[in-house]
Amino acid sequence: MEFLPLPPAATPGQALEQIDTPALLLDLDAFERNLDFMQDNVRRAGLQLRPHAKAHKCPQIALAQLARGAAGICCQKISEAVPFMQAGVRNIHISNEVGSPQKARLLAGLALHADISVCVDDATQVEWLEEALRQADASLVVLVEADIGQGRCGVPDAASCLRLIDMIARQSRMRFGGLQAYHGGVQHLRGHGERRDAVLRANERTSGFLRAMDVAGIRCPVVTGGGTGSVEFDLESGVYTELQPGSYVFMDGDYGRNEWTGGLRFEQSLFVASAVMSRIREGRVVLDAGLKSLAVDSGLPHVHGRKELEYISANDEHGIVTVSDDERQPELGELVLLVPGHCDPTLNLHEELIGFRGRTVECVWPVAARGLSR
Ligand SMILES: Cc1ncc(COP(=O)(O)O)c(C=O)c1O
Repeated sequence: MEFLPLPPAATPGQALEQIDTPALLLDLDAFERNLDFMQDNVRRAGLQLRPHAKAHKCPQIALAQLARGAAGICCQKISEAVPFMQAGVRNIHISNEVGSPQKARLLAGLALHADISVCVDDATQVEWLEEALRQADASLVVLVEADIGQGRCGVPDAASCLRLIDMIARQSRMRFGGLQAYHGGVQHLRGHGERRDAVLRANERTSGFLRAMDVAGIRCPVVTGGGTGSVEFDLESGVYTELQPGSYVFMDGDYGRNEWTGGLRFEQSLFVASAVMSRIREGRVVLDAGLKSLAVDSGLPHVHGRKELEYISANDEHGIVTVSDDERQPELGELVLLVPGHCDPTLNLHEELIGFRGRTVECVWPVAARGLSR
């Protein structure tokens, strides 16, 4: 068929208004400022930055982070690491546990080609990993994840942590790499003070694990964790050697609702571009971006720079928007930029990220790890 393959949604040099929608947009100026600002702050604190690639799933972004001095990247899923390795990223921490022997085998295969580390919180994971590494003739760095209050993964107390470290030390294919201490629950606490207090409580728990290691004579080379919402407190905490924020690259509606009174603040660089596809009813228009273009787990998107437009409901392929000012009713076909509620799962809905500067498309980057959730 002559119209296949599908023409691209955008090509470099095009005006933003000409792109096909819905499409994921990246404001390159804001994005680059976010990368520089985070890297500078982490470096000045004397820590390493290992940004989380689960937010962007895009090798070009990982390479931009590494070029600015990042020590490596984090991936949350083993398969997610593959496109980054194919793009030349050689230092990847899987900030998660292996959940089966087949996953351990997948990971051992990757460990033949790059410096890989992974988390454990259970002796069975150590057994699976050792067996898979032996079969693949590979080796790996293993961190123990500690539960510092989130109640997700992670050993609950210092005694279990020490037992696991001892077990890791007795394996031949792995080396103990340190502690992962991440608390997702504190990241979106809205008030600056309440967030700081919650991070301090989490850091206290991390310190407890570290004191126990110290008493047992165990050196802990790396303490990794932290996210965009906690990073300004993590920088001064004295517990971390390495931070793993992800969303700071883009920001989103949810992070936009946090109170940021400190000096650390990131800019909204990510948008979903949509177009007005119907305006039949008075006082409302219908956009072409709904649930298949926007993750709404952290709330509906908001319309960027247009206070009179409110996105009130998302259908599969439609977005319903009310218009409170008759004078400013958008035209049919008009481009409307949306700020998604949650960046990570929104990225996972798109194949491409269209980078623009001013009103001109500059690049189109594949979201290469999209859908890779094994
Ligand atoms: C283990 C881990 N580290 C780091 C992050 C990055 O957090 P954020 O995107 O909020 O910066 C996440 C996010 O869920 C995570 O699960």
